[in-house]
Amino acid sequence: MEKDEFRNWFDQYVAGFTARGAAPPDVVKNVRLKKDHSERVVQEILLIAEGLGLDEKARRLAAVMALFHDIGRFEQYARYRTFVDNKSENHAALGVKILRQHQVLDCLPASVADLVCRVISYHNRAALPEDETGECLFYARLLRDADKLDIWRVVIDHYQGHNREDNPAIALGLPDTPGMSDRVCGDVVNGKIVDARHIKNLNDFKLLQIGWVFDINFTPALQQVRDRGYVESICRTLPPSDRLAQIKKAVADRFDQDLQGGSHSLHGACPACHVNLLHGF
Ligand SMILES: [Fe+2]
Repeated sequence: MEKDEFRNWFDQYVAGFTARGAAPPDVVKNVRLKKDHSERVVQEILLIAEGLGLDEKARRLAAVMALFHDIGRFEQYARYRTFVDNKSENHAALGVKILRQHQVLDCLPASVADLVCRVISYHNRAALPEDETGECLFYARLLRDADKLDIWRVVIDHYQGHNREDNPAIALGLPDTPGMSDRVCGDVVNGKIVDARHIKNLNDFKLLQIGWVFDINFTPALQQVRDRGYVESICRTLPPSDRLAQIKKAVADRFDQDLQGGSHSLHGACPACHVNLLHGF
């Protein structure tokens, strides 16, 4: 598999959406946003893969999955002018369709190309399917962790006002009203992944992102979340309250449990597991 071939195709495909200077400014901005995101997710996945001690072959495959995971976003935005799947179509499924249409993965063995497509198709699901192979679930978890590491960075930048122009595509147009929903707070305090259906405002959306710490699969990714101070950064943009203090405590407990050794709840906690999963790949 030639890494540069994939990269060249990606660059040319993405450039096609803004070529000839005819693209509207919002398309140019959002294509840029997703291109940068895709490139950074490649870096994030390589960081996690290195932390797990994956070999070169596995690292390269993970990088291909990361580079193409949001390939459906460009067509989605160009066609529907939104990143909301419910108002357009599932961008992961659209991405797989595009990879197949353009025969991008044809240089890979069919079973590997199929694995890449399955992993990409699962990256935005609420939960992973239970009837998948261990290898597929391993890469899907890796991709979901890498994706979250970069989304945290993008949304925190937005909340801190670094990208000054308000880009409604980022916060999904939720109202910036005071307060937080009880149910959403309750989920985070209880160490649960927030149910997206209960989100009412921007604060709830921030809580959902805080709750992602309970949906991280690998120790090296969780370490990055803690070391980069992502949760503290989001908390600083929320109204101080007793509830927020409880939320901070729940997150601190998660870090303590899973990063101070002793826990095997993370998939990265047992180095032998992923070696077995990759055996024969
Ligand atoms: Fe995505």
